[in-house]
Amino acid sequence: MKKVTVNTFRERKEAAEKLTMITCYDYSTAKLVDQSGIDSILVGDSLGMTMLGYEDTLSVTLEDMIHHSAAVARGAKHPLIVCDMPFMTYSTGVRDAVINAGRLIQEGHAHAVKLEGGVEVKDEIAAIVAAKIPVCAHIGLTPQSVNTFGGFKVQGKDEATVNKLLADAKAVEEAGAFAVVIECVPAPLAKKVTEMLSIPTIGIGAGVDCDGQVLVYQDMLGMFDDFVPKFVKQFAHVGEAMVKGFKDYDEAVKNKSFPTKEHEFSMDESLLDEK
Ligand code: KIV
Repeated sequence: MKKVTVNTFRERKEAAEKLTMITCYDYSTAKLVDQSGIDSILVGDSLGMTMLGYEDTLSVTLEDMIHHSAAVARGAKHPLIVCDMPFMTYSTGVRDAVINAGRLIQEGHAHAVKLEGGVEVKDEIAAIVAAKIPVCAHIGLTPQSVNTFGGFKVQGKDEATVNKLLADAKAVEEAGAFAVVIECVPAPLAKKVTEMLSIPTIGIGAGVDCDGQVLVYQDMLGMFDDFVPKFVKQFAHVGEAMVKGFKDYDEAVKNKSFPTKEHEFSMDESLLDEK
């Protein structure tokens, strides 16, 4: 299997071939993703919800991201690893943005970083790119702005938000982003942005015409049902299989059908005589 790089992203856009991205947050799952042929892993700050049980992504720290990204990097050798810059790690100035992005690469061993926003973060994107760190932008429904949006709401349904999305898309491309995630916007708008940009668009809840797709792995494997968004397709029912496995184990221990001889270590039992 070939290693995926930012060049692969560029080539796929030129060849009109789709890109795949999936979230991942740990070593053993990264090893499984590595065998799948998926092009890119996003160590998303969605780990705040899926792994840590927060209500949103706002409590996730840079240390959390470094910890999870390094684990993923130990397990995945082929996909391009993109690590999210969490809330408040790039909005306090260009210098902070570059230093924090650098830590995700040096300590988290990611290949690229992702940050949310368009026009308002163009200087941060340009500075991180100038520091030789590839940046994936993220526009549309940007979950770190949940309190500004007043909830997790589809973006681009009125003229103002359509204009904002178009301006954001142009700004991140001009700033040097190598790709852009477009989250929760109507499909015709995502199509327009995809046609307008020379960098690949990676959609989530943005229709079939984006250059690629990203999903949260627990959502698409049917492992996380706190909230199932409309745009999710469950490609497997791993959650059910896990609950069944846990129940079978519980029952087997309690009815003494596990462990059996095959799971035991033997010894010279005379060593126990007269003890
Ligand atoms: O954190 C994340 O998982 C994301 C995806 C929803 C794109 O940003």
